[in-house]
Amino acid sequence: MTSFETLKSEIDSLIESTDIPVNDRLLNICQLLREEIPYYDWVGFYFRNGDKEELKLGPYAGEPTDHTIIPFGKGICGQVALSNENFVVPDVAAQDNYIACSITVKAEIVVPLFVNGENIGQIDIDSNTPDPFTEEDERFLEFVNKKVAQIL
Ligand code: SME
Repeated sequence: MTSFETLKSEIDSLIESTDIPVNDRLLNICQLLREEIPYYDWVGFYFRNGDKEELKLGPYAGEPTDHTIIPFGKGICGQVALSNENFVVPDVAAQDNYIACSITVKAEIVVPLFVNGENIGQIDIDSNTPDPFTEEDERFLEFVNKKVAQIL
């Protein structure tokens, strides 16, 4: 697997590709992470939907999901919209407030995305591998979100 350090420079290059529309750059980031990190099976961004208390699906890589709108408080994503904190789920079957996108998913990590201190969305990763995420993933995804915040 490509190291997180190498991926960070690739993220930097994608972010700096100012000739590419922002949403396409976000899509490229999703695709890069899904292709390069073997236990990242679905990678997507959700963003606050205007003034509504809900998240709307943005660019993503992986199987299409029915959950394009998620009310604040619902599921792992909706909880992160309110808590402003990373949510690492080693075993989705152990979560009561969880929205299943696919029966193959075993674990999930959601990291909030802040612009000027405001939680405006998140990156969401689903894994078909049980308990795959470490603090390294958290630090890496925080890096990704900080970079993305610069172009939103
Ligand atoms: N599992 C998420 C829903 C989004 S999908 O994973 C793409 C949740 O519980 O919020």
